[in-house]
Amino acid sequence: MFDWNDSYSVNIASIDGQHKNLFRIAEELHAAMLKGTAQASTSKILDRLVQYVGVHFAYEERLMQAAHYPAFPAHKAMHDELTKQVLQFQEDLQKGKHSLTINLLQFLKKWLVNHIEGEDQKYAPFVNAKTAA
Ligand code: FEO
Repeated sequence: MFDWNDSYSVNIASIDGQHKNLFRIAEELHAAMLKGTAQASTSKILDRLVQYVGVHFAYEERLMQAAHYPAFPAHKAMHDELTKQVLQFQEDLQKGKHSLTINLLQFLKKWLVNHIEGEDQKYAPFVNAKTAA
């Protein structure tokens, strides 16, 4: 479900590596859901995903700021919104209010692909221009 496609590349090796890691962890969640893995184990994978999302967003935001990317505030707002959503989901899962569903994974996949192709690929030229300067 979370297969990497080279069309997702932003042409920044560190970012592509992080995006691939996000896809890998999300695929682990998908596999766990298909296998009907116990919720405790699924929660641990989700915890790793949430933690890695935080690491990735922080790294990417530092790059955008260093490159004086003009759309940084709007991009950060999107990161903050997704962070809020996944934290809420994590809390609901821990409290047993929700279980991991295919709908959630589809939402995550759509968000990642749309965000990478629609937003991350827009800042990349600014970051690459700064690196080349
Ligand atoms: Fe790679 Fe803006 O998240």
